[in-house]
Amino acid sequence: KAAEKGGYKHFMYKEIMEDPQALVNALVGRVKNDRPFFEELEYYEELLKDADRIRVVSCGTSYYAGLVFKYFLENHTDIDVEVEVSSEFRYKRPHIKEGDVLIAISQSGETADTLESVRLAKKHGAKIVSIVNVVGSTLDRESDVTLFMNAGPEIGVAATKTYVAELAVLYLLGLKVMEINGYWDREAEEILDKLVRMPELLENVLRKDPQIRELSEKYKDYRNFMYIGRGYGYPTALEGALKLKEITYIHATAYQAGELKHGPIALLDVDFPVFAVMPDDSLFFKTKSNVIESKSRNAPVIVLGTEGNRSLEEITGDIIHVPPTHESLYPLMMAPVIQLFAYHIADLKGLDPDKPRNLAKSVTVE
Ligand code: G6P
Repeated sequence: KAAEKGGYKHFMYKEIMEDPQALVNALVGRVKNDRPFFEELEYYEELLKDADRIRVVSCGTSYYAGLVFKYFLENHTDIDVEVEVSSEFRYKRPHIKEGDVLIAISQSGETADTLESVRLAKKHGAKIVSIVNVVGSTLDRESDVTLFMNAGPEIGVAATKTYVAELAVLYLLGLKVMEINGYWDREAEEILDKLVRMPELLENVLRKDPQIRELSEKYKDYRNFMYIGRGYGYPTALEGALKLKEITYIHATAYQAGELKHGPIALLDVDFPVFAVMPDDSLFFKTKSNVIESKSRNAPVIVLGTEGNRSLEEITGDIIHVPPTHESLYPLMMAPVIQLFAYHIADLKGLDPDKPRNLAKSVTVE
């Protein structure tokens, strides 16, 4: 067992440290002549052409990866992306017409609600493109096209490196959809270039580990957390809160920063810290003003922001920096940080993050 963990105390820790490698593995062979390339999609490109709507179903962490895809594609094209949790999708009237594309995202490929959503969509004529880690899984077999994450086995119950792999595949797929539908431009080129260079930067992010552990020590005894973010920062806030809940059993909630004033800000006080996801993007100053409002309620604040941004220090001393990148790619750049923060709190509390209570790695029953 110890050998399997590669010298790390837990599988989860080892798997977070594998985030950069998971990113490499998801990208390998998928960029050709400076364009996104999926061999698997060769006969299916027509499906993604002239699509005015793409549906996405998934659960848990895979659902949040789907949300990033929605922000990405809707910010760069006129295509509508509807992302839904599988357990909801499968019991609603399916708004699917012949030839629609449904993207199913599942690490295990065995999540019962996602499989049933896919079966329902197929019955109504949808074509299924799935993003799966486990080769030969049920979802892989039942899909028209499978894009593999190639992250290798993930043992920890809480998804970590596979979240990184899901995001990588979804960015590439988003770029592919842009290319096929005439949206390819300089910005798309820039995003692809930055995506390809990101594994090295993720290594730099992982070097913040000792600092993140120190912060975890400082914050581990709080009983509540408010994660906030806007735009691409919002799915990161959601995933950060989920990681914390799953393995530390600390109550954490996530809100779009602009929604704070519609209720959740009433919760904040000296015992209710805010974890603010605020990279240098077009919404930075909007989020900053929400964080300042939180501070005026005496909430302790942790900021996850971009290196070199001096104005973060006006907010708090508890800052974790990541290197700058294109604004759409921050969910990927910030993934290791939210994972490590939750991991260290669980470890410092003496909990086993690999086997959180009441949770299963894949939920094969309803
Ligand atoms: C379980 C796991 C989560 C995972 C979710 C979806 O709840 O504990 O980590 O995100 O299932 O799993 P899937 O295999 O469909 O991605």
